[in-house]
Amino acid sequence: MAIAPKTKAAGKRTAPMKPVTTKTVAKKTAAKKMIAKTAAAKNPIVKKAVAKKTVAKKTAAKKAGAKKPVSRKVVKPRVRKFDLVIDKAKGAKWIKEDIRPQFEYRHFGVEEATGRQYGSHVIRVAKGARPPVSHHVHPDCEFLLVYVLKGWVKFWYDGEGEVRLNVGDVHLLPAGISHAVTGWSKDLEMLETTNPADYRSVELTDAQIARQGLPVGR
Ligand SMILES: [Fe+2]
Repeated sequence: MAIAPKTKAAGKRTAPMKPVTTKTVAKKTAAKKMIAKTAAAKNPIVKKAVAKKTVAKKTAAKKAGAKKPVSRKVVKPRVRKFDLVIDKAKGAKWIKEDIRPQFEYRHFGVEEATGRQYGSHVIRVAKGARPPVSHHVHPDCEFLLVYVLKGWVKFWYDGEGEVRLNVGDVHLLPAGISHAVTGWSKDLEMLETTNPADYRSVELTDAQIARQGLPVGR
């Protein structure tokens, strides 16, 4: 006959176990929460951590709520469209303008195409013309850019003095700066672009030129 092994339970008398009910679990959870709350109240570090968590949660909720709805409005670009301009070099016309008899101008049609908002042309020296173009200002020309295409040209600028521009050199003239053209090569050609197309050219008086310490007539 086989002998059954003695178990622990078999040798001792134990109290009957209470059944675990839902009520018991709820009670335990509530007790745990109370302990945590008390610990947080007593310990400032724990309190701070809890507070931070709460603030972060609130901020995230605010952000989610504050999200702007995506606009489906089509934004039109604020640009003015000009007519297409193609101006061929072959057969281009060169004209003289009263304001600068020393030069001839080849306009491309930019002035007409842009409602005279912009001017753009190549300038060359008229046959036999000699420097200088005396000191003057363009008080209402916002943008005046010159790019030397051929030869060379010398300008005098208030505050800068005389500067020789060679092929590929550029100047952007600030509105109202006093300047003069003091020299050029016979083969000079320069591209000039302006905004607007039409602007005043005010000659400096001899007294003003003298005050700037320049020889009269230059
Ligand atoms: Fe000028």
